[in-house]
Amino acid sequence: MRRAYIAGNWKMNLTPSEGVKLAKELAEAAKGCSAKVMVAPNFVTLPGVAEALKDSDIIVAAQNMNDHTSGAFTGEVAPAMLKDLGINTVILGHSERRAIYGESDALINSKVLLALEEGMDVVLCIGETLEEREGGKLEEVLSRQVTEGLKNVTEQQMAKITLAYEPVWAIGTGKTASPEDADGAHALVRSIIEKLFNKTVAEETIIQYGGSVKAANVKELMAKENIDGALVGGASLSVEKFLPIVTFDK
Ligand code: 13P
Repeated sequence: MRRAYIAGNWKMNLTPSEGVKLAKELAEAAKGCSAKVMVAPNFVTLPGVAEALKDSDIIVAAQNMNDHTSGAFTGEVAPAMLKDLGINTVILGHSERRAIYGESDALINSKVLLALEEGMDVVLCIGETLEEREGGKLEEVLSRQVTEGLKNVTEQQMAKITLAYEPVWAIGTGKTASPEDADGAHALVRSIIEKLFNKTVAEETIIQYGGSVKAANVKELMAKENIDGALVGGASLSVEKFLPIVTFDK
């Protein structure tokens, strides 16, 4: 049985004081909800949010990290720095990191391996562009991103990996993949995981959907067999919008 996992990726939004305020409101409002809930603030907002949520069940994650443990990497953040704040989860391979900052599958894989080595949980993002989808490359792209992203990850370590399928054309555009299309892509991802590992791992892996998830569409998405959660951008920036997503099953 896969437990629903709803995550809010705040991206480059909210100042530290705004983030702490939202975190506190969310902790109060989401008390007792059945889903696993996570928020991912920007780096400078992490310490305050980690402190504000330390007695709650809400997981605090980083949106990225470097693939080295320390050194001359100006502007970067290492896993030990996150762990020192009590942050044990990191989002890796977001399409904005891939597209805007040129992160390759190989770089993302080295981040995944380091995070696992450091005992952290990973949300690994994958997803095709509109051009790739229309060019009939969905399977090829997802297969490459999953296979390369999880290279040298062991079967045991897969318990620490969540996949987030985020079709690039659905991110921040208001266009959501239809529940059927999203479920189909998730089924494909699950079959790739089965090929790489085995049926048990494939059945146990949580696969979130991301891309314009909101209160109005979360129920029908979550009703699909292969959709186990959501990675939410815009609609995670206020309690009014995020709470109905977190409590989609109420
Ligand atoms: P939106 O929910 O704003 O489309 O963003 C999705 C996303 O990229 C979450 O990581």
